Amino acid sequence: MMFRIKVGYLYGGNILNINKCEKGFDQESVQLIGILAEEAASELLCLEPLAGEMLEFCRRAVINGNFKAKAGSTIKIPVMHGSVKYVVVHGLGNDKNSLQENIREGSFMVLRTAAAKRCSSVLLCMPEAEDRINSRSAAEGSVLGCYSFDKYLTQEEDEKLVSPELVNVPGADPAGLEEGKILGEAQCYTRDIANEPGNVITPVTLAKKAESLARELGLECEIWDEERIVKEKMCAYHAVAKGSSNPPRFITLTWSPEGICRGHVALVGKGLTFDSGGLDIKPADYMTTMKGDKSGACAVLGAVKAAARLKLPWKVTVIIAAAENMPGGNAYRPDDILRARNGKTIEVNNTDAEGRLTLADALSFASELKPDKIIDIATLTGACAVALGTNTGGLFTNNDLFGDEVLAAAKMSGERLWKLPMDDPTLKKAIKSPVADLVNSGGRYGGAITAAMFLEAFVDKDIPWVHLDIAAADFIKEQRSYYAKGASGFGTRTLATLLMMM
Ligand code: BES
Ligand code: MN
Ligand code: ZN
Repeated sequence: MMFRIKVGYLYGGNILNINKCEKGFDQESVQLIGILAEEAASELLCLEPLAGEMLEFCRRAVINGNFKAKAGSTIKIPVMHGSVKYVVVHGLGNDKNSLQENIREGSFMVLRTAAAKRCSSVLLCMPEAEDRINSRSAAEGSVLGCYSFDKYLTQEEDEKLVSPELVNVPGADPAGLEEGKILGEAQCYTRDIANEPGNVITPVTLAKKAESLARELGLECEIWDEERIVKEKMCAYHAVAKGSSNPPRFITLTWSPEGICRGHVALVGKGLTFDSGGLDIKPADYMTTMKGDKSGACAVLGAVKAAARLKLPWKVTVIIAAAENMPGGNAYRPDDILRARNGKTIEVNNTDAEGRLTLADALSFASELKPDKIIDIATLTGACAVALGTNTGGLFTNNDLFGDEVLAAAKMSGERLWKLPMDDPTLKKAIKSPVADLVNSGGRYGGAITAAMFLEAFVDKDIPWVHLDIAAADFIKEQRSYYAKGASGFGTRTLATLLMMM
């Protein structure tokens, strides 16, 4: 058995005025009422959804608990009122800028409390009027908050909290709920693959995942094997893959909308199913978590899944050069000189700077398709994590207007991105080689920037391009808000939300 919470969503209003809902949500069986309250506690407006005795009881508890609906504060009130066992009030604060993120967090808090108290029927009340974006955020937080990666834990089945069932109570925006559910589920799908270890997800099994996604959603899918990769002159990518006994797979997936199509976007994801560093092997402390070096690939798979389910009006091509970076007799070496698909030569000075070599060929390939925009997403550099920390991705672009669109989408989805410069001529010198067109590592200083500059050499300069470095943001060390431990699925919702906005 699994523990599945059924959630009905409601805006303001007195719940006792809501008739029994048609769509299978029985108000009389509600076990937990969650209230997301803006900071107006002095008048206790937040408790408006309650009525009668229950209102009085909760009013007193809120006053005694000195609850002011500050952002992130929660009060849990045990009650005995028909089927209702708990009322949970979660503060949203009063900052409109962080309202959506606070709604996500509040929805998660309410559902987590419900799970802990074994309440499987929840009514979630939001403030003010019906609003599509608020509904979307509530659904996102609900779905994301019920996620955990526990498939390898031997535990009683009935303990397993699974994705909630969202029911539209008249009042919530049904379209917003559906969008949020699809976005949240897409991110959970990203997390599910990213959390799998390197002995389960190899380039071959990652390609199988892409194929089954294609079958499920009716996408076009093409997989190239090692022989084809060499034939296609992807020698930078191939060099990275050579040291592993798990052969590479070059994956493309395409979503083509049936009706209106506003253009074509290529989404390129870094897909290192494991990064040992290669011959320049990583020390043990840095090698753990490197199963997550495929997070970019997982994020683009999640994003195209959302795009197809939402039937978004953009043609989307997902491109993944999947490989495993391992040392071995066939491994590529420091000092090797490689020729990428676009003809540029690369001197290898560090086999641990492998992601950019796989992306070089993937971005060349993407450019040849002549899409209107290209975005790549990659756990590319430890330097980016050092610069921005574990909760912010770096954004680099050759086109500020497009960069701003991606930043706006990130803001909307609560994923933090910060733009870093790529116009410093001094740093550009760091990727020059005396023996080839480029060298693959520019050293420690400005490492995230020199990596982005390296990638730029493989992108058609007439195509607006954004590079997202999500190193460390892809991984959650300790549960934080609606993020469970493990893969965060970072980037999935930004990319999907961007496709909704553009
Ligand atoms: N996959 C790593 C980057 C990474 C580091 C991701 C930490 C997530 C957390 C990448 O392939 C790498 O090893 N980069 C090197 C580049 C260096 C050799 C120029 C790095 O960041 O040290
Ligand atoms: Mn590496
Ligand atoms: Zn890597």
